Amino acid sequence: MSRGLRWIGLLATALIVALLAYNIVREPARQEAARARFQARAIADGVELYAAYCVECHGAAGEGLGVYRALDQEYVRRQEAQALFDTIERGRYNTEMAAFSLDQGGALTPAQIDNLVTLLQHGSWQVVQARVEALGLTPTEVAAQTASPDEMAAVTASGLNGQEALDLGLDLFAANCAECHGEQGEGTGDAPQLNNAYVRGMAAEQLFEIITLGVRNTDMEGFGEQFSPDEKAALIYLLRHWGTADGSAVAAAPTPEPTVAVEGFSASGQQLFETWCAICHGVRGEGGSIAPSLNDIPALSADFITSRVRGGKNAMPPFAQADLSDGELGAIIAYARQSVIGSALPRLSAEELTAAADLYTRHCAECHGPQGEGTAEDGPPLVTSPPMRASEIVNFTRVGSAQTPPIPPSAVSDDELRLIVAYLHSLSR
Ligand code: HEC
Ligand code: HEC
Ligand code: HEC
Ligand code: HEC
Repeated sequence: MSRGLRWIGLLATALIVALLAYNIVREPARQEAARARFQARAIADGVELYAAYCVECHGAAGEGLGVYRALDQEYVRRQEAQALFDTIERGRYNTEMAAFSLDQGGALTPAQIDNLVTLLQHGSWQVVQARVEALGLTPTEVAAQTASPDEMAAVTASGLNGQEALDLGLDLFAANCAECHGEQGEGTGDAPQLNNAYVRGMAAEQLFEIITLGVRNTDMEGFGEQFSPDEKAALIYLLRHWGTADGSAVAAAPTPEPTVAVEGFSASGQQLFETWCAICHGVRGEGGSIAPSLNDIPALSADFITSRVRGGKNAMPPFAQADLSDGELGAIIAYARQSVIGSALPRLSAEELTAAADLYTRHCAECHGPQGEGTAEDGPPLVTSPPMRASEIVNFTRVGSAQTPPIPPSAVSDDELRLIVAYLHSLSR
């Protein structure tokens, strides 16, 4: 009996030792499995984000559409995670690769950007392609299309003088473009403003491409061969002169900023902005690693901008008269207010605005007041001067503070929150 017990004891000890040894040997494998599970989750999330935010340019399988770079390549997979993170977070200066991080006016949190980086380094593009397909988000292939140089040459050769070009351009515009872009090119809820310095500054080739081929995945369809070379030349001439003295004399385009009176003045506002402000705020005010974006705040008053530029704040240096005269600053401000400040904010139709007001009333008014003016007891004003930038409102709402809990997407979805922000901005304009 006692012998039997000893045997059992010995056996049990041997078993424990064996199990321990097995586990010691297995430990790296278990860690590896845990890492792989974690990585799989990150990649799964990355795929969804890729489908939502990147596919339109980089293609369903990362092959790169048209002029956009392929991501399915060793060159990308081999980059440091930090380098990829920076590209997605901040975008690439002066290209269509925008900054995607929340604090740069984009939509992604650092954790989401990490997941995209993991996807780019370790994911399978076949899986991405299948998922994008299943979501019905595969972009229609118009890839390598570019406008023909011969055609562009015909446009350049058009013998129209300025007045003829404006007259013809305006007729064509009224018949083909005004329904979306507004009668004076002032923009509508459906399409952007065209009578501004940004469009005036576009190269003729670029405008030619937009008119001929359209803008991928938007309502801006190409007009192909519908216009003759002379007609295209006239439209391009109009777009490049609208809002300047000779363009507005004919078109009577209402320029939102009456300060832009002198011919060429607002174009030089753009140049001055690019000289003095772009190095920190980005060429189009999209922000960078030094300065915040100016694209996601609604209207800033000329006085406020003047006081920032003359007075500086933190890393924003003060600019003295000797560097930047009042006239030059005036031109910068006119340009910035017309084409930079608020340019990334959605333009809501009247209907959407009503829906947005409704959402605000339902979710926020109780504490922040019916018009965002704040209440004595329950919440501070949300309509402030200067206005809060979109990313600030979104971040605060999602993160909360010691005084107020976060409001999660399950209560107010991302889309709803975007509408609420747009509503608050409409109140501070
Ligand atoms: C509007 C088009 C557009 C969208 C949308 C877009 N990109 Fe890009 N992306 C570009 C362009 C253009 C470049 C090349 C920039 C350059 O020339 O440096 C680029 C470059 C990159 C690069 C650098 C590749 C290299 O060769 O170094 C990465 C990484 C990248 N994009 C990731 C993404 C991710 C992730 C998303 C979605 C969150 C995204 N992009 C969305 C246009 C876009
Ligand atoms: C069905 C509506 C619609 C019509 C008609 C239309 N556009 Fe557009 N257009 C758009 C939209 C939407 C965009 C913005 C595309 C984007 O998101 O980049 C746009 C963009 C543009 C841009 C680029 C502006 C910018 O800020 O990037 C130009 C230039 C332009 N359109 C010119 C024209 C001209 C010229 C015509 C007439 C020949 C025309 N459009 C007709 C909807 C339209
Ligand atoms: C050396 C970098 C730098 C340059 C150059 C620069 N800024 Fe700034 N700017 C900043 C920084 C940083 C901030 C944020 C300051 C803060 O609130 O802490 C800022 C803030 C601003 C703001 C306020 C935005 C807000 O959300 O409160 C305006 C408006 C502005 N800048 C306009 C300009 C203009 C116009 C120019 C060109 C004349 C210019 N900046 C040049 C760095 C720069
Ligand atoms: C139950 C009351 C309550 C509701 C509902 C509420 N908030 Fe707030 N909110 C607060 C309080 C209290 C603060 C001040 C917190 C602090 O200072 O730390 C605040 C602060 C904020 C701030 C920061 C303001 C600042 O000056 O920095 C923003 C942005 C904000 N809320 C947005 C929203 C939005 C958007 C909604 C609706 C989706 C909302 N809140 C709903 C109570 C509320």
